[in-house]
Amino acid sequence: MHDIQQRLERHGQAHLLEGIDQLDDATQEAFLARLAAVDWAELAHPAVPVPATEVGASRVIDAAERTRRGEELVRAGEQAYAQGAVAVLIVAGGQGTRLGYNGPKGCFSIGALSGKSIYQLQAEKVRALSRRTGHAVPLLVMTSPMTDAATRAFFAEQDDFGLADGQVRFFCQGTVPSIDSEGHALLAAPGRLLENPDGHGGCFTALVDSGRLDELAQAGIRRIVYIQVDNILAPVDDPELVGLSERESADVVTKVLAKAHPDEKVGHLVRVGDRDRIIEYTELSQDETRLRNADGELVYRWGSPAMHCWGVDFLHGLAQRDFKPPLHRSAKPLQAWVDGAVQQVQGWKCERFIFDLIPEAPVSIGLELDRAAEFAPVKNADEKGVDCPATARRLASDLYAGWLRAEGVEVALDERQHIEISPLYAATARDFARVWDGRCQRVEADYLLEA
Ligand code: UTP
Repeated sequence: MHDIQQRLERHGQAHLLEGIDQLDDATQEAFLARLAAVDWAELAHPAVPVPATEVGASRVIDAAERTRRGEELVRAGEQAYAQGAVAVLIVAGGQGTRLGYNGPKGCFSIGALSGKSIYQLQAEKVRALSRRTGHAVPLLVMTSPMTDAATRAFFAEQDDFGLADGQVRFFCQGTVPSIDSEGHALLAAPGRLLENPDGHGGCFTALVDSGRLDELAQAGIRRIVYIQVDNILAPVDDPELVGLSERESADVVTKVLAKAHPDEKVGHLVRVGDRDRIIEYTELSQDETRLRNADGELVYRWGSPAMHCWGVDFLHGLAQRDFKPPLHRSAKPLQAWVDGAVQQVQGWKCERFIFDLIPEAPVSIGLELDRAAEFAPVKNADEKGVDCPATARRLASDLYAGWLRAEGVEVALDERQHIEISPLYAATARDFARVWDGRCQRVEADYLLEA
């Protein structure tokens, strides 16, 4: 108790001990244990943004180079898949506040016609990949204390969506206290800190601490394809991504997209000194986001949709030197216990970002993606009209329409109608071209292709 008190005083958090004597024994014990475990020094020192003056261009394999090197990359990627050297990691610990759905975002029904959940779609992609490559590709799912039990139960109820025993491997990220505008930790209730999951960057520490990273290394996994649960088109069968990572012995390959317009709200892959990093649009003024280099190209040209391929050796190296991604603060209205009641307080939520691993990587490369084929995020509720379930279903349907058209099928849908193709029928354009049997010549109503 004395140690904790001293530590809290040192970091300006002594208010947390007020009224502690009035808590029952169990609550008091749990509260003190948590107070002792929090890294208060880290909480007091958020990450400092890099000045934009030192910013240059990252090495990016753009669409033209990707096409030119397609065969070489695919060959290397297929070899890694065939060796069983690739795992898929989905981060799914977020609170999904903007979507406003009561449960983990992955449980949200997204299939336009099947009603399948996001988890089912993602798991079926991994199942299709496993079938194609002949290896039970490990699927790591990162949960948080807020989504863990519900996610595990959801997978269990649906028999892991047909994946093999042991193929799905959950691990749970940590949490971090929210603070008020003066940096004081807030309470959710007497004897309980107000906390949130520690961001997608919590994935690194959780992967290490859970033993999952060692497990992967021991199983001969060299590459981890990292996606976010809420991008329903994020490919996991991606030989070019894996192949690039292998060919160039990359510590990390980051998928990037050319921004639709200079003010698009994304994180940007750039070079600072001899390392790549991602600079968020929130860290830049409008003039900075529109900055052009001597060749007339946007300095902040490449947006990151949060898809990466990580080298397992690289992650291991970081773990060995006890690397921990820093905390960033974002201003949020928070529901905190103040003066004997839950009230809205303006404060800071603290999170780690997965892309803070990139500046640690001696070999980092960008790979331009095909936005229409790979990016359909579910962030907001439908009322918002952008990055919401309706737009994601539409983007998926448009992609599938393209696959059909490429096979000579005429597609004539109105804006309420959709096409949905199960990943178990075809998970990629290449799969589709291989299995399509010409069963129809024209699609003019809702059209569902199941396996
Ligand atoms: P977002 O930053 O979009 O957050 O997460 P979110 O939690 O899904 O939604 P909001 O902001 O509360 O509305 C991007 C991805 O990172 C994961 C999410 O699950 C999503 O796949 N994530 C985010 C985590 O796994 N843990 C976190 O602590 C935060």
